[in-house]
Amino acid sequence: MKKVSKICCIGAGYVGGPTMSVIADQCPEIQVTVVDINQERIDRWNDKDLDKLPIYEPGLKEIVGANRGKNLFFSTEVDKAIDEAEIIFISVNTPTKTYGKGKGQAADLKFVELCARNIAKVATTDKIVVEKSTLPVRTASAIKSILENTGNQVNFEILSNPEFLAEGTAVNDLLNADRVLIGGDDTPSGQEAKDTLSAIYAHWLPKERILQTNVWSSELSKLVANAFLAQRVSSINAISALCERTDANIAEVSRAIGTDSRIGSKFLNASVGFGGSCFQKDILNLVYISRSFGLQEVADYWEQVIIMNDYQKKRFADHIIATLYNTVSGKKIAFYGWAFKKDTNDTRESAAIYVADALLEERAEITVYDPKVSEERIYADLDYLETRSPEENRRLLKVVKEPMQAAEEAHAIALLTEWDEFKTYDWDTIYEKMLKPAFVFDGRRMLSKETMEKKGFQYYKIGQS
Ligand code: UDX
Ligand code: UDX
Repeated sequence: MKKVSKICCIGAGYVGGPTMSVIADQCPEIQVTVVDINQERIDRWNDKDLDKLPIYEPGLKEIVGANRGKNLFFSTEVDKAIDEAEIIFISVNTPTKTYGKGKGQAADLKFVELCARNIAKVATTDKIVVEKSTLPVRTASAIKSILENTGNQVNFEILSNPEFLAEGTAVNDLLNADRVLIGGDDTPSGQEAKDTLSAIYAHWLPKERILQTNVWSSELSKLVANAFLAQRVSSINAISALCERTDANIAEVSRAIGTDSRIGSKFLNASVGFGGSCFQKDILNLVYISRSFGLQEVADYWEQVIIMNDYQKKRFADHIIATLYNTVSGKKIAFYGWAFKKDTNDTRESAAIYVADALLEERAEITVYDPKVSEERIYADLDYLETRSPEENRRLLKVVKEPMQAAEEAHAIALLTEWDEFKTYDWDTIYEKMLKPAFVFDGRRMLSKETMEKKGFQYYKIGQS
């Protein structure tokens, strides 16, 4: 097993930044360099003011503050970092393709491929290359073939080490990981590489939580773990629709089934729909590879998880429109929350984007308040859909920095993210500011129906009639 003194990570994003910060924190003898082609992002990672870090994660700024400049570095000098490191993590983004073959489903690997070519170009000593990005199965072999065929007689071992951290709890998920998965070749040098990487995680995790597998199992397990998690959300959301038509209450059903130890209680919160950078993308990948192997039924089975999620977002928007007397044209609707879940400033695939888009199509006027998401991000999310012009998006949707300002003269409030602060608001004052009847549509099941109705609100909560 090699003794490691320097590692680097390409991609200073939601995964690369926190993961490397925790490794640096737990392995003081290893120098960790995180590189990115985006100068602005690196500048923010290096900002003296730790509140300006590009990623908001509870506990992250403390770890960065304690280690930056000691054994943790953020830089745009990609080639230098690659050349010096014994282990190189690839943690660049792999968005769903928006063009060509596999459009809308397959992952776009162009950034990963660029990284591999760059590593091949600059490496002068043997390297362990670790794929950290969530990638379609068989990517490791693609990286391997690029590295082996452009080479300068350098030996590369490719490992798959998928990330299981969830945003908002990333630091804790890294420090207390249920498991770390390391996939690699069963050759002697592959085994050595797996052991070398395992030793890094063994600095803080018990050995039995570090699982070694072959590359395919590791890559596939990541997609399957996310598909199973997303499936639970879609399953409970499907039942939430049924609850709204009957006298069953989704909270009671969740609790009743969750206490069966075989089912378990986590991930059974009905919501306006799952978002985030991974669930949809990973399921689409699973669907795409299943189809490419001719496994139509398998592909259809998993695709249904996405169909149900789209239905849930649409159902929420439709319910708002129907309740507001079948027209929202010119009506002010306040959005509380834009992020895809609480405690993150990430908005990728957030349900709020799609609910907003549906309401804007009906000419609603939306005012958004989110404690962590910037105005530019919100407009960028809407513009990306290309449903209407950027000018139109800015005319119809406003972003405010004060929750009370959003409520002013609003016909309705929609809760899209479960930020804790929404529970602590003075809802009596909010009621006074709103037009009457004052509607609240709770897409996150945060508030009590009884209390809200007592205050005078017309209150709807997902999963309750
Ligand atoms: C991660 C995983 O890598 C992705 O596969 C998973 O599905 C979602 O989470 P994430 O860290 O969230 O991605 O992505 P992002 O925050 O966009 O960060 C990626 C970074 O890589 C960006 O800062 C980008 O500038 C950088 N990058 C991209 C490079 O440095 N070089 C490139 O060639 C491409
Ligand atoms: C997920 C996986 O949990 C993580 O292991 C993987 O590495 C990356 O993808 P993340 O996308 O950060 O992490 O968030 P997660 O907490 O899984 O939530 C995903 C979405 O599901 C959110 O929009 C969340 O609000 C929603 N959700 C989750 C529900 O609607 N109900 C639930 O019960 C749980």
